[in-house]
Amino acid sequence: MEQYAEEYQRSLSNPNDFWGEAAQAVDWDQTWDNVLDDSEAPIYRWFSGAKLNTCYNALDRHVKNGRADQAALIYDSPVTDTKKTYSYQELLDEVSKLAGVLTDLGVTKGDRVLIYMPMIPQGVMAMLACARIGAVHSVVFGGFAANELATRINDAKPKVILSTSCGIEGSRIIKYKPLLDSAIELSDHKPTNTVIFQRPQEVSDMQEGRDINWADAVANTTPADCVSVEATDPLYILYTSGTTGQPKGVVRDNGGHAVAMMWSMKNLYNIKPGEVFWAASDIGWVVGHSYICYGPLLNGSTTVIFEGKPIGTPDPGAFWRVISEHKVASLFTAPTALRAIRKEDPDCEYIKKYDMSCMRALFLAGERCDPDTLFWAQDKIQVPVVDHWWQTETGWAIAANCLGLGELPIKPGSPTKAVPGYDIQFLDEAGQQVPAGEMGAIAIKLPLPPGTFPTLWQNEERFFSSYLETFEGYYETGDAGYQDEDGYVYIMGRTDDVINVAGHRLSTGAMEEVIAAHPDVAECAVIGVADQLKGQAPMGFAVLQSGANRDNDEVAKELVALIREKIGPVAAFKMATVVTRLPKTRSGKILRGTMRSMADGVEHKVPATIDDPETLGEIAANLKALGYPKTQA
Ligand code: COA
Ligand code: AMP
Repeated sequence: MEQYAEEYQRSLSNPNDFWGEAAQAVDWDQTWDNVLDDSEAPIYRWFSGAKLNTCYNALDRHVKNGRADQAALIYDSPVTDTKKTYSYQELLDEVSKLAGVLTDLGVTKGDRVLIYMPMIPQGVMAMLACARIGAVHSVVFGGFAANELATRINDAKPKVILSTSCGIEGSRIIKYKPLLDSAIELSDHKPTNTVIFQRPQEVSDMQEGRDINWADAVANTTPADCVSVEATDPLYILYTSGTTGQPKGVVRDNGGHAVAMMWSMKNLYNIKPGEVFWAASDIGWVVGHSYICYGPLLNGSTTVIFEGKPIGTPDPGAFWRVISEHKVASLFTAPTALRAIRKEDPDCEYIKKYDMSCMRALFLAGERCDPDTLFWAQDKIQVPVVDHWWQTETGWAIAANCLGLGELPIKPGSPTKAVPGYDIQFLDEAGQQVPAGEMGAIAIKLPLPPGTFPTLWQNEERFFSSYLETFEGYYETGDAGYQDEDGYVYIMGRTDDVINVAGHRLSTGAMEEVIAAHPDVAECAVIGVADQLKGQAPMGFAVLQSGANRDNDEVAKELVALIREKIGPVAAFKMATVVTRLPKTRSGKILRGTMRSMADGVEHKVPATIDDPETLGEIAANLKALGYPKTQA
């Protein structure tokens, strides 16, 4: 307890010493001029003037320091019945060759490379190969549709795209290559080449002159060496949902990121080099970037790539099998995954088949962890269950129980306390701190610690307007919540229209843009309603153009199909309904909050400013037809 409090204080009172010490864990090519560079505040940079290579730190130095034969990456794929372990030496060889292929294709430092891959080792190899030559990668999650992929291609302007013939979702083969082809067709920017990893389950057609076969290229190249980059040079861009259809390109730099990853592996996750850490996420999300790829490898630990689901591949014991078989010390997943397991195996019978003695802790993030799920997991797994709160923007946890600094008592419903480096504040609309126990907007006093985002890709203006403008001197997280008397934080929900579906961050604003583009729709609203399994689920309401003369159910079906086509299956948009009018205030603001409360069956006051209270009657009737509210308040 003491150690956490001391380290936390030190991180805020003397960030230069604190992070300068943490940076000793990294091998630098050149040391920094400043640990914290505040010369351009409120834009802060870490380790300016320093040089390093992230891939060197993740692979080469471990090979040099005696870890050549240690497992670096374990690939476990129940959907293809494959298990394969790569030692640090083997992973280094593969990555160096892939970096050679990129170099052959003219990719150099600062060029962007887009990666569209499922959960196979080649995804991680692709990320590290980019890092090796100083190229900036941008990984796009496989569950997004061609349209979303095209948006990212247009924004990042990649020289090369690394992809594969297919992904496997349970028993279904998802053909990636046709999705990629149509995304390139849709986008204004065209990559010079694509490099396609052909999987035996599906062999894609290749476009002569543009598409290159991964295996052939790797077999015919010369391995590339590491290129030294500035600590402040970008390592990757990761797009995340904002409030519009245009996603935000979160930028991560090299130096601060390496320092934060190594500090967190030791002090937060309490994982030593040589131990196995498994983040059951996807490389398309920030968790996958930080704790499938970079964190464990920078730390000299072993990472696991699991191509499967918590249930159905083949049963709800999949997680427990992987943990016992590969001696996983800590698992990181989303509460949704636990809820899915619990639904199928409420008494957790499957866990009894496996020796779980290797497991020390379970980490949860991505969405609020309801106490019920926390208690269930604690009871069944018998390890500390650590909820921790973070965002794509920060790249690592803002609040957590830092197990490496001495475990703090767990309070259900709270991700514990601010992580060293983060000065979390709860503010009212005027930017004043609210007292303990009172809800406020959650903001972090600048500077943010190393490893967080310095800007949005080629959009500093949006960086300022989205995050820095509301509260001067603070980063606005977009989350709301409160702090108790002991300094434990509680994250209660978003202040914008971002929703979390199965631990996936989505924008209801982006969905509204798609629905509004339907030719028969005059206006619409999308809200996130409570969902027992996925935390939240999107629900759309549409008003038709006058004279549209369409069958309401038919239009609703078209809207469901449209979101799947334009945003992708990951949106999990299954509920749409047509209404004659949307409830609004007299000034024309749609009462989404009221609609959400009605759907969730929670008590709510009808705002005095409502234009026509009768509109709520129709909403209630349509909700009933959709089976909402599930429970009455
Ligand atoms: N490629 C293609 N399609 C994908 C995909 C991918 N990488 N990931 C998800 N999809 C599809 C799913 O197949 C599903 O399609 P469907 O509508 O045809 O059934 C759809 O997107 C919605 O996916 P999801 O919301 O994940 O639902 P699911 O029913 O497939 O799985 C869970 C439910 C709970 C098992 C799953 O969501 C899960 O494991 N969640 C944990 C998420 C997580 O770890 N997040 C990382 C944060 S730490
Ligand atoms: P993402 O950028 O996809 O990681 O999503 C970030 C958002 O997910 C946060 O702003 C929160 O709204 C939510 N979130 C993530 N982790 C937690 C958590 N442990 N508790 C509550 N909300 C969380």
